[in-house]
Amino acid sequence: MAGYLETAVEIAREAGALLATYFERRVRFELKGEFDLVTEADRASEKLVVERLRTHFPSHGIVAEEGGGHESASEYRWYVDPLDGTTNFAHGFPIFNVTLGLYRAGEAVAGVVYDPIRQEMFSAERGAGAYLNGKRIRVSSARNLGESLASTGFPSRKRNQDVNIHFYYQVAMASHGVRRTGSAAIDLAYVASGRLDFFWEFGLMPWDMAAGVLLVQEAGGRVSDMHGAAHDINTSAHVLADNGALHESVVEFLAEIFQGKFRVPMLAVK
Ligand code: IPD
Ligand code: CA
Ligand code: CA
Repeated sequence: MAGYLETAVEIAREAGALLATYFERRVRFELKGEFDLVTEADRASEKLVVERLRTHFPSHGIVAEEGGGHESASEYRWYVDPLDGTTNFAHGFPIFNVTLGLYRAGEAVAGVVYDPIRQEMFSAERGAGAYLNGKRIRVSSARNLGESLASTGFPSRKRNQDVNIHFYYQVAMASHGVRRTGSAAIDLAYVASGRLDFFWEFGLMPWDMAAGVLLVQEAGGRVSDMHGAAHDINTSAHVLADNGALHESVVEFLAEIFQGKFRVPMLAVK
């Protein structure tokens, strides 16, 4: 497949190494929105990734979070998150990654999520499986919500309008727990590798998920929206990624919360 995945892996490794050097130095952050952080490292990583993609695939379109991309007539489009987990990064909390996903006419072709701290390269190509540092990965085999480990996230944009705390609480009460890694691409890569059984989030952007959803699908899992309907990285309001075995029960559980039926009421603070 024209070396798309190999090139993406190479670029992510280089950008990840760059992020790691900035991480050592503890760079300052600025605010893009009220609580939306950005650093010099986001911009430097994006510049590197976009330059490399332009050199290798000059005709392809690029959508990059910090605005460095460009439109094109090509049916190929890269989605780039040069630093996913910026809030973690800015605080010295070592969970972040660089992620690139290639789509052709709206369908995922290849994707990588690279965590330079653990030196973990998650990669997937449509129809060829998902891998962690070259070894095949698969989703977990958990079948019961009560024995599952989940994760979610809370976008920094419009956070006072976010209803996710209700979902967080209900799932936390019904499972082994809900992690909040601060990086959606890591959440998806961890579902793909069986470290998490499912993940959901509202309001993610296409670059947060472009590679991760392919990883989950190629690892044998399922990706839908939180109602169980078809998911589109560009238009869906929310995402659910799971190991497949848990899909029906999670969708049913989330449906109750959407209807305002809370199994466990939140305690009032006394
Ligand atoms: C954020 C992370 C986080 C998620 C936010 C994203 P960023 O990406 O993926 O886990 O909860 O919704 O915006 O801003 O660090 O690239
Ligand atoms: Ca992101
Ligand atoms: Ca980012």
